[in-house]
Amino acid sequence: MPEFVTVAKVEDIPPGTAHTVEVHGIWIALFNVDGSFYAVDNTCPHAGGPLGEGHLEGHVVECPWHGWRFNVQTGKRPENPAITVSCCSVRIEGNQVQIALPEGFK
Ligand code: FES
Repeated sequence: MPEFVTVAKVEDIPPGTAHTVEVHGIWIALFNVDGSFYAVDNTCPHAGGPLGEGHLEGHVVECPWHGWRFNVQTGKRPENPAITVSCCSVRIEGNQVQIALPEGFK
């Protein structure tokens, strides 16, 4: 069973926005897409840009450094699905957003 950790309150992350949180010393980008929450590794695989500070449009976030885009639901680049970021499990308990890192993350 993955260990879920509370990282934010639902009301802290309005729909269409992103947030950066730390889980066990790892920075995770957290997104609210129309009320559904998604979490991926905050570190862009291109050159380490902070995906949690990127612009979110639908399910796609654009890295603020050089514009690589990732689907926050799948972790894949729409332009090249071979390039991915790791995704985390997210659940909502009451008004708390909880994340579990995947096995062997980082
Ligand atoms: S670091 Fe993200 S696009 Fe370059």
